[in-house]
Order: sequence, then C-alpha cells, then structure tokens
Amino acid sequence: MIVKEAKFVTSVADKSKLLCSLPEIAFVGRSNVGKSSLINYLTNRNKLAKASSEPGRTRLVNYFSINDEMYFVDLPGYGFARVSDAEKERWSDLIEGYLLGSSRLVNVFVILDIRHEPSELDRMMIRFLNHYRIGFTIVATKMDKIKKSLVAKHVKMLADSLYLTTASILPVSSETKQGKERVLARIEELLAAHEEAAKSAAGEGGETGE
Ligand code: GTP
Ligand code: MG
Repeated sequence: MIVKEAKFVTSVADKSKLLCSLPEIAFVGRSNVGKSSLINYLTNRNKLAKASSEPGRTRLVNYFSINDEMYFVDLPGYGFARVSDAEKERWSDLIEGYLLGSSRLVNVFVILDIRHEPSELDRMMIRFLNHYRIGFTIVATKMDKIKKSLVAKHVKMLADSLYLTTASILPVSSETKQGKERVLARIEELLAAHEEAAKSAAGEGGETGE
C-alpha cells in the first residue's frame, strides 16, 4: 500500500460516537510504546498523531483517514501508572468500547516493545482479542534500540511467548524508519481479504453455481 494522503479526521471520547464509514486498522498497546509514532512513520508525517515521551499522550480515539479509503485509529495506551483510577477506568472503557463497538474494524495492530517480553496487560489484550475473535497483528517497535544482530532473536522471544510464528511479528523502528514496507503490505493484504469477505457475505463475490 502506498500512503498518498493522510488526514486527521476526529477525536472521539465516547463509545456511542464511533465512526463507521470506512474500514479501520486500530493501534493498541502499552502507554509510551510508540503507537502514535508508528502512525506518523507509516504515513510519512511527523506530527499527524501526537507522540510524546510523556506517557499518556493519547487520551481519545483518534481517527486518521488514509487515501480516503480507510482509517488508522490511534487509541490511548494502557498501563500508564500515573493517572487516577477513575481516568484509567475511563480509558479502558473507551478502548474496550472501541474494540467491541467499531463495526468496520479490520484488524488490531498490537504494538509491543521489541526489547521486552509482553507484559501481563499485553497478554490480557491478546486474550481479549482472541476471546472476541478480533484479528490482530503484532508490530514490535523500537528495533533501533537493540543491535541489528539481535532482532531475529527478539522476534523469536516474542513469538514464543505468545505462541505465534515469527513470520507473524513485524519489527519496525519509527525512529530510524525501518520495517514500514512489511507493515503496509500486511495492511493491504488485510484490507483485500476484508473486502473479499464482505463481498461474499453480500452474495456478490461467490461462484455463479451454474
Ligand atoms: P501513548 O499515547 O501515551 O499511549 O503513547 P504512544 O504509544 O502513542 O507512544 P508515542 O508514539 O507517543 O511514543 C512514545 C515515546 O517513544 C516518544 O518519545 C517516541 O519518540 C519514542 N518512540 C516511539 N517509537 C520509537 C522507536 O521506534 N524508536 C525509538 N528509539 N523511540 C521511539
Ligand atoms: Mg499515543
């Protein structure tokens, strides 16, 4: 996929106001893991999504339209310790409300830090997605923080700890701009499969049977 145009569309604070006009790829993960930075890297824009070294930057569900054909959805991070319990609850309600309520969700990109084993919250997120049969993809970011020779080893560590294949984990760095091609290719595949499934569900894409 080539990103020709990327625009901020809207921020939503309430699960009753979610958009439903285009297919969506959502970005979830621990606070500060690099979700917003990844959206900026994928779209070749420095400041499309607000990224910051201060955890808890993204507090709403943010929609970015890509080539007027899909949305990237940037979600608040989980696991940020320095917010009140009430605020944590509001964020997790919003994340869960989004994941269960968005009618055009194609796939969830779970962003992990390539350096570390998935946290208990990451595992909970993956269990949640499996439970509700929501398709997901692991993107392992901050690969610039480890030696190039160790990337494959870290990908294997993540794959083993999540019972996934190494091929299903996509290493990237938004800082040194590495790994985008595989992520964009995966998005293209996911969108094509989603469209195909929608067509056959609508009875247009199947065989004629004659
Ligand atoms: P929340 O909105 O708080 O959930 O965080 P986020 O997951 O959107 O993280 P964000 O993109 O704001 O990045 C957090 C910090 O990590 C920033 O200081 C980024 O510059 C840095 N960062 C993000 N991706 C990378 C990367 O690939 N490599 C390095 N070295 N730093 C990164
Ligand atoms: Mg963010």
